[in-house]
Amino acid sequence: MNHKDKVAIITGSSKGIGKAMASILADEGCHIVCAARSVDKLEQVVAGIRAKGRKALAVGTDVSDRQSVQSMVGAAMAEFGRIDILINNAGGPLAGIPGMARPVNDSNEFFDVMEKMTFANIDDKDWDAIFNINFYGAVYASKAVLPIMMKQGAGHIINISSKAGKIKADIVPGMIAYATAKGALSRFTEALAYELMCEVSPIRVNAISPGNVAVTMHENLSPEELEGYRKPEDIKDVLLFVLDTEKSVSGDIYGSETMKSWYEEIREGI
Ligand SMILES: NC(=O)c1ccc[n+]([C@@H]2O[C@H](COP(=O)([O-])OP(=O)(O)OC[C@H]3O[C@@H](n4cnc5c(N)ncnc54)[C@H](OP(=O)(O)O)[C@@H]3O)[C@@H](O)[C@H]2O)c1
Repeated sequence: MNHKDKVAIITGSSKGIGKAMASILADEGCHIVCAARSVDKLEQVVAGIRAKGRKALAVGTDVSDRQSVQSMVGAAMAEFGRIDILINNAGGPLAGIPGMARPVNDSNEFFDVMEKMTFANIDDKDWDAIFNINFYGAVYASKAVLPIMMKQGAGHIINISSKAGKIKADIVPGMIAYATAKGALSRFTEALAYELMCEVSPIRVNAISPGNVAVTMHENLSPEELEGYRKPEDIKDVLLFVLDTEKSVSGDIYGSETMKSWYEEIREGI
């Protein structure tokens, strides 16, 4: 599919999978709006995109704040006048938990950190932080871009979910709030796609489950501990597949590792 001169907003694009998706879509010809809290890191990502000859804008955004998300979408419209793709990527199992979303030195430290997030230990403030970023951030951004995409008569919303949110998936103790939020995000994806289909809307809504990907949190882990982990840029195939209206359908959640929908994976026992 031709994505030349399409405008993509990517939340959480200051690092990790979001940064990789910004580069992938710029290579496809898109102009990119990079949104996250760390503006200094966003500026570096934007410089990399501009070096590829594409346009880019860094917008300091806290996705857990509806007003901040609305302002970010306003800034994107002021700069580019259209939004073709929204990727709700900001998040993580420790996103928004002060001092916790940092590199760990080994798997033991990871399990110690996660222990603080088990059902017995997690407090209401941390439940709210996990939900506000991993779930409500996507709700706020989708609500802000949908009228724009409706007016344009086209658009893609892609939510970055996690297999932690898939039914019957094994999770590490301490991922209970994250798994519940990603489960909600996945169901939101299906429900919004269904509502839009009932309205015969051309707007597509999908989710991607990236699998285990080595990001900042894992940078101090040994190669043995990272066996089976993918690189952020490995999301390319499934991202382009989901954006291809001839290959994928709206309303599905696609696994990066299998390139199959969660329904196909579950049917096949994956
Ligand atoms: N890595 C994996 O194995 C894996 C597996 C399944 C799903 N995922 C999902 O993939 C997505 C990206 O995560 P990642 O693994 O690439 O982690 P990461 O490297 O830690 O990146 C997380 C991104 O989210 C941004 N962010 C966090 N809180 C935010 C907020 N309140 N407002 C705006 N941006 C915020 C961060 O930027 P700032 O700190 O600058 O705001 C950063 O750009 C997440 O949704 C995560 O749940 C990851």
